[in-house]
Amino acid sequence: MERRTISTEFTEEDEKIEGSLRPQKLAEYIGQQKAKKNLKIYIEAAKKRGEPLDHVLFFGPPGLGKTTLAGIIANEMGVNLKTSAGPAIEKPGDMAAILNNLHEGDILFIDEIHRLNRQVEETLYPAMEDFAIDIVIGKGAAAKSIRLDLPKFTLVGATTRAGMLTAPLRDRFGVVNRLEFYTVEELQEIILRSAGVLKVEIEKEGAAELARRARGTPRLANRLLKRVRDFAQVKYDGKITKQVAEYALDLLEVDRLGLDRIDREILTAMMENFSGRPVGLESVATTIGEDAGTVEEVYEPYLVQNGLIVRTPRGRMVTDLAYRHLGVAKPAGAP
Ligand code: ADE
Repeated sequence: MERRTISTEFTEEDEKIEGSLRPQKLAEYIGQQKAKKNLKIYIEAAKKRGEPLDHVLFFGPPGLGKTTLAGIIANEMGVNLKTSAGPAIEKPGDMAAILNNLHEGDILFIDEIHRLNRQVEETLYPAMEDFAIDIVIGKGAAAKSIRLDLPKFTLVGATTRAGMLTAPLRDRFGVVNRLEFYTVEELQEIILRSAGVLKVEIEKEGAAELARRARGTPRLANRLLKRVRDFAQVKYDGKITKQVAEYALDLLEVDRLGLDRIDREILTAMMENFSGRPVGLESVATTIGEDAGTVEEVYEPYLVQNGLIVRTPRGRMVTDLAYRHLGVAKPAGAP
């Protein structure tokens, strides 16, 4: 039997479906109560004043709704949404072109904003602060800087690594929201809503099982829903019951805590290769053949949140819970 792991890679089909499942309005959005409450007030106030919303930063692990919230802000404000990403904007001129094409009030969403290069980032400072950019024309002694006024816009930035933002950029956001992992109850509600949109028959208990294993992440919850639906259609009568969900998720190697194969490889490497001693992230990543940034941004936050890994001044350590979860005996020399 072919074994498929749930990875963070997306197929085009997944992205299309993800788009169709996105809530369009704040009222339809489930979870992130704190961010939602803040945004509701700021959006209302900005609309009352007839001004664009202050610049907004979202940070937190992938899949928690940063892009979705950017879309919702645009819908609630009744303006256009332009989308780009840090690595895609290579030169100051590229940024100038994007900014110059905005209309009054538009939202510019920049994903992975921590990956903008220095010069491009610097173009953003006057743009965010004064709605203007300085363009240098000519070279050497003849070079001249001219100021170009921009329409008033709202920048919505998203990053998985708030720590990697420079202070001048971070300080220019008026509204900063940290997105949190979702509770099982919130994920269950999201799955039931998505099943309704996709016209998938699902029992509450089936949705709860999916929710428990979706590592606090709606994007993963929706992906698992799609995969489990396939199992339900081929192997059963199409309805996702608890039993169908359990069967399919076990086959997909998503365990009872929502850990996938890579999560378990990380924990196993820390237990076996490093005998449970504190270890640096780079060493763990190298051992399992993953990129250190990916381990830090994608895998570690959930493992830490669920008490499977602790971060100590001397490095990362697996906890007793992790040994119990994987059924591994704690090595004799482990702290
Ligand atoms: N689909 C993905 N994320 C969602 C959310 N937070 N609320 C409702 N539906 C969603």
